[in-house]
Amino acid sequence: ASATITHDNGRVTATLPTGESVEVLLYGATVVSWKDKGEEKLWVSEAADLSGGSAVRGGVPLVFPVFGKPTDHPATSALPQHGFARTSRWEFLGKSTTESDGKGGDGGVKLDFGLGPENLSAEAREAWKGEFGLIYSVALTRGALRTSMLVRNDGGEAWEFQVLMHTYLRVKDITTTTVEGLAGAPYHDKVTASAATAPTSPSTLSITGETDRVYTPATVDTALTVSANGTPAFEVVRENFENVVVWNPWEEKAKGIKDFAPKDGWKEMICVEAGQVAGWTKLEGGDAWEGGN
Ligand code: BG6
Repeated sequence: ASATITHDNGRVTATLPTGESVEVLLYGATVVSWKDKGEEKLWVSEAADLSGGSAVRGGVPLVFPVFGKPTDHPATSALPQHGFARTSRWEFLGKSTTESDGKGGDGGVKLDFGLGPENLSAEAREAWKGEFGLIYSVALTRGALRTSMLVRNDGGEAWEFQVLMHTYLRVKDITTTTVEGLAGAPYHDKVTASAATAPTSPSTLSITGETDRVYTPATVDTALTVSANGTPAFEVVRENFENVVVWNPWEEKAKGIKDFAPKDGWKEMICVEAGQVAGWTKLEGGDAWEGGN
């Protein structure tokens, strides 16, 4: 048996014979559901706009070519917060399947999505002139969801970008949720707008209030573990992504986010986001870069 794929109404769904599934909107190539062992693993706001009118509040929105709204980078300063990838309609490029190896290894499915200048709104194209091609791959197997982004410079001139998978993980209770794997990692704290003097991060990070930090661990080889009450719930493995953003808006901030529902939903989510966002990644004409998690 192989995976079942459906592609309609701007949404691609893949379901493995064993029941695991992933749903991706063409709008933003946003993963809006990932189910494993019958459980939804991602948090999506009940007030999220899934119609393609605005970036999805939850799931895995994609950040490219800029993270946040930096004021010191003229080439991206005309773009909206987090860039255009999460608000553009991507193309579904197709699927590939990996069959079970017959030795207990499970078969899986990979969905590929593409975005290029021709898919952008006139405003987005006007705001950023890079000649680019993106291929985003979402691979589902039993027990894991892996995503990767290939960034290509299709032009003759170099440009710089930032990229990030803005993953909203569903957790049972933020007050008993911990993140391990950031020991000693320096970080920039966006809440207090300060840089932590490295190395300061404890081996176990507990979330006790509004959190918005950009970490730069010493190596990409350390996996992060998100645990509930000390029991591992997620493992985040990174390839080429040097930074990790940890975000939880907490009570007050969540109140002010209009598409955030229920209002106490911050208790059941944590964003652990892998990407290249602390600085800029430069890509020469004709070159490509790939990262994943
Ligand atoms: C996080 C940023 O990645 O995304 C936060 O670090 C930001 O600063 C959050 O508030 C949500 O951004 P947005 O644009 O989806 O509201």
